[in-house]
Amino acid sequence: MIFTVAIDGPAAAGKGTISRAVAARFGFRHLDTGLLYRAVGAKGGDPVAAARALTAEDLARDDLRTLEAGQAASRVAAIPEVREALVAFQRRFARSEGGAVLDGRDIGTVICPEAEVKLYVTASPEVRAHRRWLEVGGDEAQVLAEVLERDARDMGRADAPLRAADDAVVIDTTALGIDEAVEAACAVVRARFRPE
Ligand code: DC
Repeated sequence: MIFTVAIDGPAAAGKGTISRAVAARFGFRHLDTGLLYRAVGAKGGDPVAAARALTAEDLARDDLRTLEAGQAASRVAAIPEVREALVAFQRRFARSEGGAVLDGRDIGTVICPEAEVKLYVTASPEVRAHRRWLEVGGDEAQVLAEVLERDARDMGRADAPLRAADDAVVIDTTALGIDEAVEAACAVVRARFRPE
């Protein structure tokens, strides 16, 4: 059974939480594709070489969740050769047997346009910044500035910019709790998933 759930959206909109919950609920595998770009950014040196030589060990680093790693990821993600080096792995994962959830920025538009379910998870920048600030602390205004900077870069780049696929279902989590957001996503998947 091949079944892909593509979940795209801006930073801190709730994609990760929703993706993990959907994967657990339906027994699908989950790939957080942002982690690939974070690992490339964190490796330093030539990002194209880093992307081509990425290992499981690189993905297991414990410093990939920081704001700095997010910014570095967003910068290397604008380099077409970096994206190109990561395409095949993501496509294989998306169409592997047993069902897959991938979350990122270009899953429904570029990596897997044939995905059976496409979700675009978003929320206001202020709410996203507040949620990120609860996780990382520091100056909330600075966190908002970083969220806006990352949005602008991810949406404005020439190669695979962040946007909702035409056939994506939009879930705005601005006024939703975690459970409500997860239920909204699961309802869309349930309506389309017909296991044998
Ligand atoms: O989802 P995240 O915050 O971990 O992503 C970090 C950065 O990686 C994000 O700002 C842009 C980039 N990214 C991307 O360009 N394409 C993806 N599919 C996933 C992430």
